[in-house]
Amino acid sequence: MLGGRKHTYETGDCSGMAGALRSLKAWGVKLLLQTNAAGSLRAHMPPGSLMLITDHINAPQRSPLVGESGNARFVDMGAAYDPELLAHTRQLAQAQAVALHEGTYLWALGPQFETPAEIRMFAAWGADAVGMSTVPETILARHAGLRVLGLSLMTNMGAGLGDESLTHAATLQQAQASGSYAAQFLADLISSLADVPSLHT
Ligand code: HPA
Repeated sequence: MLGGRKHTYETGDCSGMAGALRSLKAWGVKLLLQTNAAGSLRAHMPPGSLMLITDHINAPQRSPLVGESGNARFVDMGAAYDPELLAHTRQLAQAQAVALHEGTYLWALGPQFETPAEIRMFAAWGADAVGMSTVPETILARHAGLRVLGLSLMTNMGAGLGDESLTHAATLQQAQASGSYAAQFLADLISSLADVPSLHT
């Protein structure tokens, strides 16, 4: 449905996707299926790996819901990434023999990449991948009552974990190189969601 996203690093505003996500909800959409490119914090998850997001860390501790009123703003984030749809996605990966990692995605504000010290800290916190998006949208989507599922494509090792320095060009190139297998899994996942009854009631 959406061909991209507003990133917080573009304007400093982390609620840039509020209008789009609330519109989707108003139009009857049930699920926000997010994708992103991320840096891997785990040696067993090299560039090209696909990771199912099971949880997230809001490292900047910024919220797109600041300024909202009402009790609904106190959103329960205990199962932000939909447990039933996580199970469904796992099952599909298994059935297709697609190597699908799982882990916690950490939002870094950007747009600069992280320092090696930051990457070591994030890994110690329990993050498995780091990126500059997704978390504000997950918060907005849960607030709006959308279910959320997210997939991260590892485009590089986090700063200091690989031999290469990080560039946006290299990130895009790796996304291109592994994008077709990820896109195929994404396409199959989307088709398979037709078989999830709870998305169609
Ligand atoms: N850090 C932050 N965002 C990213 C990275 C990274 O290493 N790779 C792709 N997006």
